[in-house]
Amino acid sequence: MKTVEEVRAEIPFLRTGIIYLDSAATTPTPQPVLDAMLEYFREYSANVGRGLHRAARRATEAFEATRSKLARVINAEPEEIVYTKNATEAINIVAHGLRLGKGDKVIATVLEHHSNLIPWQRLERTRGVELEVVGATWDCLIEPSEVDAAIDDRTRLIAMTQVSNAVGSLQPVEEISKLAREHDVLFLVDASQAVGHMPVDVKAMGCDFLAAPGHKGLLGPQGTGFLYVRKDRFRELEPLLLGGGIVESVDERSYKLVGPPQVFDAGTPNIPGIIGLGRAAEYVLEIGIERIAERERELTARMLKIGEIEQVQVYGPQDLKARGGVVSFNIEGIGHHDVAAMLDELAGIAVRSGHHCAEPTMRHLGVDGTVRASVHYFNLEEEIEKFIAVVEQIAKEFGK
Ligand code: ALA
Repeated sequence: MKTVEEVRAEIPFLRTGIIYLDSAATTPTPQPVLDAMLEYFREYSANVGRGLHRAARRATEAFEATRSKLARVINAEPEEIVYTKNATEAINIVAHGLRLGKGDKVIATVLEHHSNLIPWQRLERTRGVELEVVGATWDCLIEPSEVDAAIDDRTRLIAMTQVSNAVGSLQPVEEISKLAREHDVLFLVDASQAVGHMPVDVKAMGCDFLAAPGHKGLLGPQGTGFLYVRKDRFRELEPLLLGGGIVESVDERSYKLVGPPQVFDAGTPNIPGIIGLGRAAEYVLEIGIERIAERERELTARMLKIGEIEQVQVYGPQDLKARGGVVSFNIEGIGHHDVAAMLDELAGIAVRSGHHCAEPTMRHLGVDGTVRASVHYFNLEEEIEKFIAVVEQIAKEFGK
């Protein structure tokens, strides 16, 4: 267990005095994660899965160990973890690798990040796959009955987010996963805003694939992520890249590949990043994922008080149980980018503004963008109070 103060003391970036409310975009890196990466660079900076010298063996061991650390976070098996550079790559592996074609249908939702939408749109254009995009309720929740109605006998896959990155609504993925199983349809969860922030259990959820970044809830380095693939689904999934480090044998005309998950590691991977990600997974487990979730709920409840300011409109569900640690809002009469710039200028508060790579979600809300504040375990109550006060000041001075 690690207290908030202990975690803050271990994150160098927070010492700059920034009020960091942009964890939905990426998170600052704790010192033990930096140390794990530096140790690799300084002591055993070798390639993995190739050499026999001791540095290469140590690097391979540390690199491979991250699979079991990530598996612990989501209740998977180590051999079900594929390393990627981000959640986007994880989703693209599934989109490319499933060999979907004409006559197949994919269901996504209006709440998807572009990363979980345009890979399917491309399949529609290039391979004749049909994409159906299910709508959401006014407060950005997906109704399982809507997904059910969209499933037909051509449906091969449902791909949806667990927590909307744009507004923070938490979706009923367990129910939808059950529907997918009943109809013998594959289920891919984009858990970018969930893993590390709240308990995620792939076995209980019953999903076939789960994509996650390393650099958000998990507090890992940028350029890392992973794809969970249920063991028996690997045979349906073609690797995105072929190349060195993943073959058993090659002759002039043919090749024989190693098995999963290493078959997805073609080329020299991000070895320090993956080693850092393993340390980061341990780090969030040391804090306790339940504790992170509980704290984020408290901080989010506090942030939602901005909804009481006359000129402020908050998007997403009222019910805290239907939310992750993301609050998206607008101030009437002021552009979202202007609000974000003022928060930074007036109080050193970092938030994201714009469409959050979720333009269909913005269209669903009838806006061209929002201001988005997002938390992690390390945020302080005082920081949220300051944020509320500055939002109020901006609304009173510049809002309508
Ligand atoms: N996908 C990240 C976000 O929502 C970058 O900001």
